[in-house]
Amino acid sequence: MNDNLHQLRCFGCGARISGAQARADFRCAECGDLFEVDYPGWARRGTPGLPNTDRPNPGALKWLWRERKCSSETLDNSGVWRFRELLPILEDFGHAVSLREGNTPLYALPRAGRALGMDQLFAKHQGMNPTGSFKDTGMTAALSVAHERGFEWVACASTGNTSAAMSAYAARAGLRSLVLIPEGRIAWGKLAQALDYGAVTCQLKADFDGCARVLTEIVRRAPIYLLNSVNPYRLEGQKTPAFEIAEAFDWNVPDHLIVPGGNLANSSALGKGFREMKELGLVSRMPKISVVQAAGANPLVRSFLESGGKRMEPVEAHTRATAIRIGNPASWRKAARVVTETGGWCLDVTEAEIAMAKAELGAEGLGCEPASAVTLAGLKKLRGEGWVHAGESVVLVLTGHTLKDADYTIEFHRGTLLSAEEAAGNEDKIARLQRNAHVVEATPEAVLAVMKGEEA
Ligand code: F0G
Repeated sequence: MNDNLHQLRCFGCGARISGAQARADFRCAECGDLFEVDYPGWARRGTPGLPNTDRPNPGALKWLWRERKCSSETLDNSGVWRFRELLPILEDFGHAVSLREGNTPLYALPRAGRALGMDQLFAKHQGMNPTGSFKDTGMTAALSVAHERGFEWVACASTGNTSAAMSAYAARAGLRSLVLIPEGRIAWGKLAQALDYGAVTCQLKADFDGCARVLTEIVRRAPIYLLNSVNPYRLEGQKTPAFEIAEAFDWNVPDHLIVPGGNLANSSALGKGFREMKELGLVSRMPKISVVQAAGANPLVRSFLESGGKRMEPVEAHTRATAIRIGNPASWRKAARVVTETGGWCLDVTEAEIAMAKAELGAEGLGCEPASAVTLAGLKKLRGEGWVHAGESVVLVLTGHTLKDADYTIEFHRGTLLSAEEAAGNEDKIARLQRNAHVVEATPEAVLAVMKGEEA
């Protein structure tokens, strides 16, 4: 790793260490908090005690990154490594393990926008990554570090998407991978991916938080590289969609960015991306970044209500949006800082609100997994409260592909997903969104009759 260019700075006590000095569990030896990757060379000219030769030039970077879009080099084709000047975490970029991640589409959402009286509503669809979720952007970064440092084994605890991404990138690099997942609580599509990519997969009789605890102990005992998002290099990759969004807005930023919250690394990473762009003069301001959690897995929401985001009590998590079924999120302090510094909000949404928002996104031709749909459900609330205005621009971060959790979608349309209690008050809206398959005779007449019925 290029220790000359980057350091790890403890988020809690500010202690600085080199990349090579990090403990296996990536916790600070002084205070136990998480680290952030920091680039001292980016400091402004004249900062006492710091060199200033590496501070990137914003105009030159914008030009270079655009040029790379026409390049045929592997690294330039990655939507993460195309921005490599802002993540100099490898000694040699030749060690990068890439599956052409990133460069994901930013779609307009005209129907959902109209329903909310907005004409600048967009979705950054991170489900369009190689393994179908935003985790690929972080995985290419952190797994490349593992590869460069000569690890043979990598591991993660996961609600499914991290494990899918990790096992794919490990397979590409020829590394062995160990996956710990909560038994019976991850979507089949994600489990299938880990198996397909050859991971050693253990289903533990525990929730995500229990799996994470077991893994922390394992990496202390064996030379295994931890690829959960406590690993600060993951966030360096996950910050790059912020660069893509700013580039798509011609180096302005949207007024609002709305992100799902689980372990709370993604909101932290996107905030870091926008913060660094602002500090380097690539953009003039940050968007308001809001984090949306499921009501049954809302420790950050509670933290804001109870202590303004200063303390967090773990909760026992329950939601059908299994990707964000997390009660003790590792990166909560970082995410709380992003929400506070940008003037965003932290809010939660019910199971029915998630299911309806997901169906609305599907009807717009996009589709996403339930955890991603909390963003649209959250935006509806923010609009309802008057915190997001009609003329403002909003980007929803859709984190996972709709095929990750097909069971959820089918159950929604069949009417078996939500209990009567959960659906109460929304029955009509839900019925209008449901599209169950028709079982009919194998004749043209029968099918035409179905179409006629739909038109009526
Ligand atoms: N959306 C999806 C589809 C996810 O898979 C996750 C997290 C999140 C949102 C939340 O992101 O944790 O950074 O706040 N999935 C993790 C996993 C925890 O193991 O795949 P976060």
